[in-house]
Amino acid sequence: MTLADLNQLLTARHSCRAFLPDVVPKEQIEQILTSAARAPSWCNAQPWHVVITSGEETNLFRTAMQAEATTGTPTPDLPFPTSYTGVYQDRRRACGWALYEAVGVERGDRAGSARQMMENFSLFGAPHCAILTSPAELGAYGAMDCGGFVTAFSLAAQALGIATIPQAALASYSPFLRRYFDIPEDRMVLCAISFGYAENNHPANSFRTDRADLDEIVDWVG
Ligand SMILES: Cc1cc2nc3c(=O)[nH]c(=O)nc-3n(C[C@H](O)[C@H](O)[C@H](O)COP(=O)(O)O)c2cc1C
Repeated sequence: MTLADLNQLLTARHSCRAFLPDVVPKEQIEQILTSAARAPSWCNAQPWHVVITSGEETNLFRTAMQAEATTGTPTPDLPFPTSYTGVYQDRRRACGWALYEAVGVERGDRAGSARQMMENFSLFGAPHCAILTSPAELGAYGAMDCGGFVTAFSLAAQALGIATIPQAALASYSPFLRRYFDIPEDRMVLCAISFGYAENNHPANSFRTDRADLDEIVDWVG
């Protein structure tokens, strides 16, 4: 295993926003989870837990999730960012515009962007959805550990040719998810990961995001 191999996986992975309906064999989902669980965590607490939907259950969930997103009030367990300013606002806008341009939503087209945003709640057509939770008592550090789990999950899936997208959008409706999946009160719903096989020809999958140069993200000392 070389850094080049790892970089190949890291650069091939992207957030997939249009999936084919074909289900992933359960053995492969188990392989992805086994790999993802190698992520480091503080005290090796391994705070992650996932509920994974497959087949018709995903379709039932999709329908219920869409209804909730249409009528419900966003109340995430983990408070969403209060604002994005400076470079963070710039980067957020750049990836949003890249998506809208790809799917033909023009700047200022609020109805069009809202329609694209609602695609989150149809899981972008994915045949599987993982709902990721962490014990509330571990707070931000449990959530931090789970971030590593999300990355490892996405890379392991990529290695098997399976596309993924982490989705905080679904965690807007944490109380609904808790009721729907019988998630204990003492766990925080962090995000979802929808996954399956990419619909490669779909416009939503036609763009890639870039990354800041090193001098923007590091201060060398010594
Ligand atoms: C924790 C987390 C939550 C995210 N939530 C969403 C989401 O709700 N909807 C969405 O379309 N993308 C979501 N994304 C995907 C990001 O927009 C994406 O990772 C970023 O733009 C970089 O693009 P890439 O993943 O294609 O490299 C999320 C990513 C992460 C890590």
